[in-house]
Amino acid sequence: MRHCAKLIIVVLSLFLVACATGDFAPPPRVSPALIASARLDRISAQELSIGREVFVSRCLECHTLPSVAKYSRNEWPRLVARMAGRANLTVSDQEAVTSYLRAASGTGEPHS
Ligand code: HEC
Repeated sequence: MRHCAKLIIVVLSLFLVACATGDFAPPPRVSPALIASARLDRISAQELSIGREVFVSRCLECHTLPSVAKYSRNEWPRLVARMAGRANLTVSDQEAVTSYLRAASGTGEPHS
């Protein structure tokens, strides 16, 4: 019973934290669904993971992390190309970020 009460407190506090951060949509994990959505483009799970890693570490230096669902899979390559120079991405990092964002843009809820 004690255990149960602790669990409830943990769940409630997670819920409060989620509310406090407003509508920020975290970039989706490299899930089986995400990997499946990238398979058509012949993108590996490893490249998706690298792309996500680069995205979450480099694309928030100047602004908040853009929501992956805000732009379509066809818009991301152009946007990343524009930002690549600013973020000092190598060509392979740029490709990985583009692949990740193209795959992820289809899996999240549209941002409005
Ligand atoms: C050195 C600073 C800097 C870095 C690093 C950076 N950005 Fe930006 N980004 C900007 C600025 C400044 C703007 C707003 C002006 C503009 O759109 O050119 C912007 C705007 C954007 C927009 C909105 C564009 C639009 O038309 O609405 C997106 C999306 C974006 N960045 C994505 C990224 C991604 C993805 C990365 C990582 C690869 C990244 N940014 C890294 C400076 C940066």
